[in-house]
Amino acid sequence: MTDRAASLRNRLNKNLARLSSWRQRDGVTCFRAYDRDIPEVPLAIDVYEGEDGLRRLQVVAFAPRHGGGAGFVAEVEALARVAGEALGADADRVYAQVRERERGGSVEADDAAASASSFFVREGAGRFLIRMGARRDPGLFLDHRTTRRLVAEACVGRSLLNLFAYTGSFSVHAALAGARRTTSVDLSASTVRWAADNLAANGLAPGDHRVVADDVFAFLEGEGDRYDVIVLDPPSVSRSRRASRDLDVQRDHALLLRRCVARLRPGGAIWFSTNLRTFSLAPLPASLVVEEVTATTVPPDFHERPHRCFRIVPRG
Ligand SMILES: C[S@@+](CC[C@H](N)C(=O)[O-])C[C@H]1O[C@@H](n2cnc3c(N)ncnc32)[C@H](O)[C@@H]1O
Repeated sequence: MTDRAASLRNRLNKNLARLSSWRQRDGVTCFRAYDRDIPEVPLAIDVYEGEDGLRRLQVVAFAPRHGGGAGFVAEVEALARVAGEALGADADRVYAQVRERERGGSVEADDAAASASSFFVREGAGRFLIRMGARRDPGLFLDHRTTRRLVAEACVGRSLLNLFAYTGSFSVHAALAGARRTTSVDLSASTVRWAADNLAANGLAPGDHRVVADDVFAFLEGEGDRYDVIVLDPPSVSRSRRASRDLDVQRDHALLLRRCVARLRPGGAIWFSTNLRTFSLAPLPASLVVEEVTATTVPPDFHERPHRCFRIVPRG
């Protein structure tokens, strides 16, 4: 075993011990086991334990600036095997992928479901369909586990607009907590179907819990309804011929927030989140109270700050 592999194995064992009481207390079965802890081992490793009790791993390797070449890929494969052994996942349930650079986010490819392994996981009261493959995100971003709980608590008896909804996980938790209605908007038709599958898997009726395949800018322009809670969780950048315009969260967040404020009911709140590491919040109108809640929303299994999150409320 190489030095790097041995360091990874030791660190995984340490992390498992560190996270054990938190995972038991909160019933956490899907978690980040390794978060670029050691600079020489630039991996993020997520464990997804299915309802069937089997563990699958998503291992993401961040390639050096000028690409790592075949040697880097071979080493990632070897490290992924070590991770599988340490974390109790069979080799054929370990999915490794190399990312050239930190990914800004994109519109999910409509053919992305091909050749992926599908299974259900539990998070709190919710069930979620995970599709794991070497070239895709599995359908549940673990860094927003706590945000989902906080948003769900804010949605009891209220309405939720979930923008850039991806597989609808905020909507599922909100609906299970007692949201009166939810609307989940995402540009990708296959992702919206996935959100509908997640809602159905939790016994949530499509009449009250709507999914919409649309560009968020176009949707907000045409939407007449108002909502008590709005989740705005855009990718850092997104370009698609199906969208009315390109998205750049740094450039566009003030505009998106203005449009969201216009769709908010009195007493409502916007939860805005971004993964962009270099993000800086634009000056917003004095009529808005802005509270950064990142310290509360980042869960204990992440130590590279994975997102920033703001709760934005019009002054009453
Ligand atoms: C970062 S993910 C959102 C994560 C989601 N909020 C969650 O917590 O699971 C970004 C999503 O935005 C969608 N997207 C990208 N550009 C879009 C646009 N212009 N309008 C609507 N959705 C878009 C992508 O298809 C993708 O599902």
